[in-house]
Amino acid sequence: MQFLTLWCIAVILIAAGTEAESVDASNSIRPGAVWMDTNGEPINAHGGGILTHDGFYYWYGEHKGKRHSAEVGIRVYRSTDLSNWENAGVVLPVSDDPTSEITSGCVMERPKVLYNEHTGKFVMWFHLELKGHRYNAARTGCAIADTPTGPFRYLGSTRPNAGRFPVGASSEMREQIISNRGAGPEPEPSAPKSEKADWFFARDFYGGQMARDMTLFLDDDGTAYHIFAAEENYTLHIAELDETFTRHTGRFMRFFPGGHREAPALFKRNGRYHLITSGCTGWAPNAAQHAVADSIWGPWEITGNPCVGEGSNKTFRSQSTFVLPVVNKQDAFVFLADRWNRDNLADSRYLWLPIEFEGDKPTIRFVDRWIPANHWN
Ligand code: GAL
Repeated sequence: MQFLTLWCIAVILIAAGTEAESVDASNSIRPGAVWMDTNGEPINAHGGGILTHDGFYYWYGEHKGKRHSAEVGIRVYRSTDLSNWENAGVVLPVSDDPTSEITSGCVMERPKVLYNEHTGKFVMWFHLELKGHRYNAARTGCAIADTPTGPFRYLGSTRPNAGRFPVGASSEMREQIISNRGAGPEPEPSAPKSEKADWFFARDFYGGQMARDMTLFLDDDGTAYHIFAAEENYTLHIAELDETFTRHTGRFMRFFPGGHREAPALFKRNGRYHLITSGCTGWAPNAAQHAVADSIWGPWEITGNPCVGEGSNKTFRSQSTFVLPVVNKQDAFVFLADRWNRDNLADSRYLWLPIEFEGDKPTIRFVDRWIPANHWN
């Protein structure tokens, strides 16, 4: 009798647990777990960013194999609830043509997409490294499409803002670069980081600035910005795009020269600009940093690490890629990060965590599981 009672209780508990699991599983986000798409396949969209368009979220990201090079291309998934993602295919495949810049074996990283209301085009930018050149090309590629699910047409790549000085450039910097036709003698290894950054900036002045880790940001006034790691990753550049979003206007600012930040994620809240970045340690995690400004051109104020709690000094073993404003919710933002697995990049995991705010300071805590639909009012 006693055994039968226990058995019944066990069956009821297991049934309840299974039901809770299935209800929860379809609506929840589990940071760091393998994330399946609606076909039951692991989502492969690393270094990703989200476009919100006509009732859907579109998650663009790098299709990763075991290694860093691109063998497939850029993928997109779409969702209405941020938890269930439908695979909408490869929107910018690598090319079979060995002479193409995006031939199989190149590196395509951190794709981001904006919709341009004036041209009606979806515009993608990504970090491009040419096949066989490791990470030395430091170029940025652009592609456009008529629909968010593509196909995207590759337009080409660039080293941005050749021959342009940043906003606020000193007359001393202008004179030095012009009189040296670029960079003068290289600084000593013991020179301050800002001096080394200035030297890299001058070195690339005529040929165009390096553009590695990147994001895009569309402001309320319709102006688009491209934020990328330049100057051998010593300095992030925040650069304005033209009205087609496919070219740089030449107006840009240097965010803390020598600051060594990458993996930028820029968003706007209550009229202020926020930028979350990582340090530069390759696939290895490090501490995130948050900065805030009234104007995108600065001055920017660094507030420190937005992550709190255990593991916060390594961003919970992850690296920022995007901050998503959630639609139809008050003050709702999600921090998107990658937990890289350098031995098998395809198995890198996603850490999506809700952001809370104390005044203008964001706070990110690790949680095992959360439900976007229930999280905000
Ligand atoms: C990281 C960067 C990644 C990838 C990696 C390659 O610093 O954030 O996107 O480029 O380096 O080592």
